[in-house]
Amino acid sequence: MNDVENVKVLLIEDNPGDARLIREMLAEHRGATFDVEWRDDLAKGMKRLADGPVDLVLLDLTLPDSHGFNTFSSVQTTIPRLPIVVLTGLDDETIAVRAVRGGAQDYLVKGKVTGEQLARAIRYAIARKTGEKRPFTLEELKEFDGKDGRPAYVAYSGKVYDISASALWGDGVHSGLHSAGVDLTSDMGNAPHGEEVLLGFRIVGELAKQETLGQMAARKAEKLHLHPILVHFSVAYAIAFPLFNFLYFFTRTTSFEIAAFYMLIAGFATSIFGGLSGVFSWKVTYAGKRNTLFDMKLIYTGLLLAAITASLAWRILEPDILLTAGFQSYAYLALGTAQLPVVTLLGYYGGKIVFS
Ligand code: HEM
Ligand code: HEM
Repeated sequence: MNDVENVKVLLIEDNPGDARLIREMLAEHRGATFDVEWRDDLAKGMKRLADGPVDLVLLDLTLPDSHGFNTFSSVQTTIPRLPIVVLTGLDDETIAVRAVRGGAQDYLVKGKVTGEQLARAIRYAIARKTGEKRPFTLEELKEFDGKDGRPAYVAYSGKVYDISASALWGDGVHSGLHSAGVDLTSDMGNAPHGEEVLLGFRIVGELAKQETLGQMAARKAEKLHLHPILVHFSVAYAIAFPLFNFLYFFTRTTSFEIAAFYMLIAGFATSIFGGLSGVFSWKVTYAGKRNTLFDMKLIYTGLLLAAITASLAWRILEPDILLTAGFQSYAYLALGTAQLPVVTLLGYYGGKIVFS
């Protein structure tokens, strides 16, 4: 429901008696106040619309300068966003129905409508028009249950239909089984008819995308800050591995070399998880969008994993690689040491993501 306090209504009606009646009914209505401007032909009405916005048009279809459906389509094509309630006599109800199918929010038969109904039609017309294309959550949809004169909406295949006009959905209940205000996509299979029954009804919005269980789990997991937690292991081992290598190289104490090897294995395992958690965080929090920062992180993660994998393979294939000083051992030391700037840059870009 739209709670417009002061509703600006443009009444386009050629019969002064009808116009007076409508203005009186709206003036007497308690609740929202209606500020009604009256024009007695289409040209004057259109001129008024060009002069400034109104909230709604009450439109008689039979005017001195325009008749029938054309009256409606002239106003609608000029300002498609404007809610229109069609006023009609008993004899031209078919055209009014056509106008509603064509996008008018409602129609009222002159002389048969009470002030209360008129005011309600205006408020709902504005609410419906504002609701168009807006996403409905299941919670919001519930308000349109067709009870107590409220509009009846049903969702089907992601779209929200206004079925208020259907006699088969009186009071928002259909076939004694189905209620308006809910998503009926999965119920259609049990119906004796298919989705074609909805064709004649106006789509007033779309069902907001519901978060899937997987997405919810991912969002919750991301809240635990897996990536910042896991990367500390990777960072620690990327520092420890070259450090122990150097300790061994200068002290020749074998246990340092063995420790370095274990650091390398641990570094390998934790960097894989560090990298994966980074990609996870990037996908969940930043929707996997590309920019230089993320590109750098991907490149340096690739370099880090390449350096660690190469060191590991090398050390496994040649366990004595550091035993003798020579080109090969220096190359092995250099490869290990290269992890330091790479992991530093990963942290640097990570910090930039977090703090900028
Ligand atoms: C067991 C379940 C249902 C039964 C027995 C049932 C029965 C019917 C019948 C007999 C009609 C009129 C004949 C026709 O147009 O084919 C009808 C029309 C319709 N049904 Fe259902 N239906 C069921 C479920 C549903 C569901 C799940 C929807 C979902 C939106 C739905 C929406 C409609 C609509 C929009 C119309 C057209 C109303 C009109 O033209 O005024 N029905 N239904
Ligand atoms: C092993 C490789 C990686 C290391 C060592 C690393 C290191 C870091 C560090 C230290 C932070 C800062 C955390 C903080 O200040 O709270 C960080 C944040 C971040 N990193 Fe990485 N990172 C790595 C791989 C990746 C990858 C591959 C991506 C994906 C492209 C990535 C995406 C992020 C994001 C999105 C943040 C922001 C914090 C968050 O939302 O969790 N990282 N990273």
